[in-house]
Amino acid sequence: MENRFRFPPPPEDPAGHHSPEKGDEGGGLEIIQERTGFVPDPKQALVLASQKKRIILNCSRQWGKSSVLAARAVRMLIAPPESAVRQGGALVLVVARTLAQAGETMRKIERFLKVAGHETRGEAGKTLAMRLGNGSRVVGVAAEEDKVRSYTADMVILDEAARIPDDVWGAIEPTLATTDGDLVVASTPEGKRGMFWEVWTNGGPEWLKVQATVHECPRISKEFIEAQRKKPSFVQEYECGFVDSSRYLISRESVERLITSDEKALR
Ligand SMILES: Nc1ncnc2c1ncn2[C@@H]1O[C@H](COP(=O)(O)OP(=O)(O)OP(=O)(O)O)[C@@H](O)[C@H]1O
Ligand SMILES: [Mg+2]
Repeated sequence: MENRFRFPPPPEDPAGHHSPEKGDEGGGLEIIQERTGFVPDPKQALVLASQKKRIILNCSRQWGKSSVLAARAVRMLIAPPESAVRQGGALVLVVARTLAQAGETMRKIERFLKVAGHETRGEAGKTLAMRLGNGSRVVGVAAEEDKVRSYTADMVILDEAARIPDDVWGAIEPTLATTDGDLVVASTPEGKRGMFWEVWTNGGPEWLKVQATVHECPRISKEFIEAQRKKPSFVQEYECGFVDSSRYLISRESVERLITSDEKALR
């Protein structure tokens, strides 16, 4: 593990929501663990502690992907880097296939912030946005190419990333260009195609890649797993498998066999 994950302390007397207790020193991860029951598994802790600026999680349904994304976002919001402070606070952009999904992840962020003693308020003119007292902001957007433009972000979260179209991935990286910000993506797979598959398969050493199947999740019972095992989507949903969808008549491998680098074939 690269280092120990801790949330920084909350501001002085944040509306009485959190009074620092002895040993807690004011709002470490301990208080979130105690009040929400979110005690990171070893792999979740690895994600939280990582210093990498590119992180990809290929994990089972209900493993805790959104919760881990939320916890990393909270640290960025509470303790923004100096460069973000000079800009008035950090911006975390939460992108998901739909606004409703982005909203779910934002609710997790809000809950962690609250128990850590940080109040948030909404932002005028934005459907899904909240601001902390230190100026940091979280904005939720649906995965549409024109919606993710115009932001300068310190962290971008792509939840359910396999379902986010490639042109949106393309529009997102520039938002991190001037901040040297973090890109943290999580999903269950959806076939051997698209940027999620591409990054998972070919992403270089700048990426921390974490995979966790349902069998490693202590919160999902053996009985539930056995009942789900018969379903055709089991490998994709619970075992992190990139399975070619039956919706596609030709598999990716078949298409690749038809493609040749022989120039003559192109004439
Ligand atoms: N380390 C943990 N300790 C306690 N509860 C946890 C932990 N990790 C996740 N959970 C709980 O498990 C449930 C699922 O978590 P979460 O929604 O983050 O998973 P997910 O992988 O994003 O799920 P989905 O695939 O459905 O989007 C939530 O109730 C969350 O609070
Ligand atoms: Mg989720």
